Amino acid sequence: MQELQTILEEALESFAAVEDAAELENIKARYLGKDGSLTALLKGLGKLSAEERPAAGARINEVKQQIEAALQAQRDAIQLHALNARLAAESLDVTLPGRGLGVGGLHPVTRTLERIENLFHSIGYDVAEGPEIENDFYNFTALNIPEDHPARAMHDTFYIDEQHVLRTHTSPIQIRYMQAHMEKYKHLATMPDIRIIAPGRVYRVDSDATHSPMFHQVEGLWVGEKVSFADLKGVIADFLQNYFETEDMQVRFRPSFFPFTEPSAEMDMSWKGGWLEIGGCGMVHPNVLKHVGIDSEKYIGFAFGMGVERLAMLRYSVNDLRLFFENDLQFLKQFN
Ligand code: DAH
Repeated sequence: MQELQTILEEALESFAAVEDAAELENIKARYLGKDGSLTALLKGLGKLSAEERPAAGARINEVKQQIEAALQAQRDAIQLHALNARLAAESLDVTLPGRGLGVGGLHPVTRTLERIENLFHSIGYDVAEGPEIENDFYNFTALNIPEDHPARAMHDTFYIDEQHVLRTHTSPIQIRYMQAHMEKYKHLATMPDIRIIAPGRVYRVDSDATHSPMFHQVEGLWVGEKVSFADLKGVIADFLQNYFETEDMQVRFRPSFFPFTEPSAEMDMSWKGGWLEIGGCGMVHPNVLKHVGIDSEKYIGFAFGMGVERLAMLRYSVNDLRLFFENDLQFLKQFN
């Protein structure tokens, strides 16, 4: 049966040439399918004589088995090839360095704020906050800075509209807090003391090595029946000694002017053989107390305001304030 031999050779050849599993099954049908050439031969057995039939059947079956074996071998080869291709594509280089987790850290200004808050908290101060967009009343008028007063010009203010500014200092938080405190305790004959610090961002049209248009201040306020300038000095000196972790810290108060305090002073601290200004302070002006409905005959208080970046620069020996806001990771990573 020459035909049988041709079918076998053709089948083996065409299987060997196929690389695709689905195509292989299509080609299989040419030989073993319902209309396949080998199937046709098997069907043709019936036409043979009874003597010829067994031998012919046996040979056809033998070829059929060879074709099936070749088919299976090619199926396996295709599968192995696909597996190898996938392994190569998805291979991992276990010698590569890991990606690692980027561990974040707190910004040095945030660290400084937390440090300040913790120190004041330990001596009984609450932390108060206020909006960064302030209205004219809270930022100026209630702080005894009337319209057309030269002190308004001292603050190079970012105006949002006629009535609203980016707050130029944290002092308006004093006003908001005192108002809320009065409202809360108006049923009492004597209000409890107000003792807060108010940290936050403030804004001024200013930019150089020691000024940024956005910076941070921390405000302090203590109002009660018996609060003195000596308390103010004690609180500031105690804070600075703790903040800089040294007993050997001198604090100096220089007479100054702020509309919202009377008397007013600049606070200096001893630093490298000289003096360094770290903020302003004074006894809360009676007009400020009047603006929030606090009886200035009965209550008295002190207030202070300090620059947070200045405190951070001194503690970390940073010589340019703008570094804090450039977001250079090489700089920021040093603090963590
Ligand atoms: N608000 C003032 C400023 O930004 C700083 C200041 C001075 C705050 C004296 C005070 C104070 O509370 O008593 O220039």
